[in-house]
Amino acid sequence: MAYYGSVEDYRYNDDFLLRLRDLRRGNLDLGWLNAGTEQREFRAENPKRGLTYLDLDEGSYGFSELDNEPRGPRGAAPRGAAVEPEAQADLGPELNHKNDVWAYKVASFTEEAMSRQWDASTAIPWQDLDRYERPEELEIAFAQLCTFFTEVELIATDLPAKWSWRMNNQFQEVKHFIATQAMDEARHAEVFRKRALAGGIGLMEALPQAEHTLKAILDCNAYSEASAFMHLLAEGNVLTMFRFSEFISPTPVDKRIFQLVMQDEARHVSYGLQHLRWVMDKDPGRKEELHKTLEEAERISIGQFDAALLECMIVLAGKGTKPGQIAEGVKLVGGFQVRQIEEYFQRLRRAGFEERIERSLFRQLLADIGHPDPLAAA
Ligand SMILES: [Fe+2]
Ligand SMILES: [Fe+2]
Repeated sequence: MAYYGSVEDYRYNDDFLLRLRDLRRGNLDLGWLNAGTEQREFRAENPKRGLTYLDLDEGSYGFSELDNEPRGPRGAAPRGAAVEPEAQADLGPELNHKNDVWAYKVASFTEEAMSRQWDASTAIPWQDLDRYERPEELEIAFAQLCTFFTEVELIATDLPAKWSWRMNNQFQEVKHFIATQAMDEARHAEVFRKRALAGGIGLMEALPQAEHTLKAILDCNAYSEASAFMHLLAEGNVLTMFRFSEFISPTPVDKRIFQLVMQDEARHVSYGLQHLRWVMDKDPGRKEELHKTLEEAERISIGQFDAALLECMIVLAGKGTKPGQIAEGVKLVGGFQVRQIEEYFQRLRRAGFEERIERSLFRQLLADIGHPDPLAAA
């Protein structure tokens, strides 16, 4: 039973019984007919695209003019509804400032997410897998990669779910976006699990080092910190990894998987980038906090690269385990790792947080492996 129970027993409430009898006689109050809310006509600007959140961005229903601190509602009331603040149930949302959650273009990201949903059961030509020759060692390496991705995607499902109910309902477009993200990530976990099993090898080793990174993402104690760590850094890394995985995939069926997950992943990363950009513009006092978060996130992420993960990628990239193939794999995976860091730096620049690059542990890492300094090159 919930701790929060009803305080009154209707049987001992005369008012309630009187009202109920009145209602049953057809004596209605009808006060709710005059809620006093705004009446406007909303139309789809582009009928082909349909009625989008962007079409609703007006007056008391809009989001562009919404204050950073929409005082008052802490209950379930949607933005624009009539609210009696004293009568509302206080749902205790922790994220009550627009700057805590908002991102440029978030309404567009949500619309895009809804129109690009796909079904892992039917969108992948699973029946074609047997048409391609798949050497066993490559199939095992690919099953290891899929096991890692399944772990990653399960945590990525939990993260938006963890934060959704903590957001004030005034931020409906962001809540909807992270709900689509939870759905996307659940589907990604599904598709990688299905691929490992459909290939006949099944799942391989879960990777504890990666798990510690994933736990650190879930444990962030502020949403913007969790977003910088997850959307920008971790999912950014995963996006570069998906692109590389498409390149080293054993079959066209696998390439199709990566093409579909990349569509979704790019959207999640874009939201994170646009949220960070929003915070940099509207709340620059939080920079130091975000430096600390990303410093920790970078340190933890460097430890993510479990030997089993790197090795399975090397075997896939070199297409086998003969010495020449391994040498080729090492070369390709090395290039991919540098690309991951370069793309992270590009995202920081686009988010208006270029100053992070100078202090980034990844910059040090590049120096340690003898790669030219990205700042000197810029
Ligand atoms: Fe994902
Ligand atoms: Fe994602």
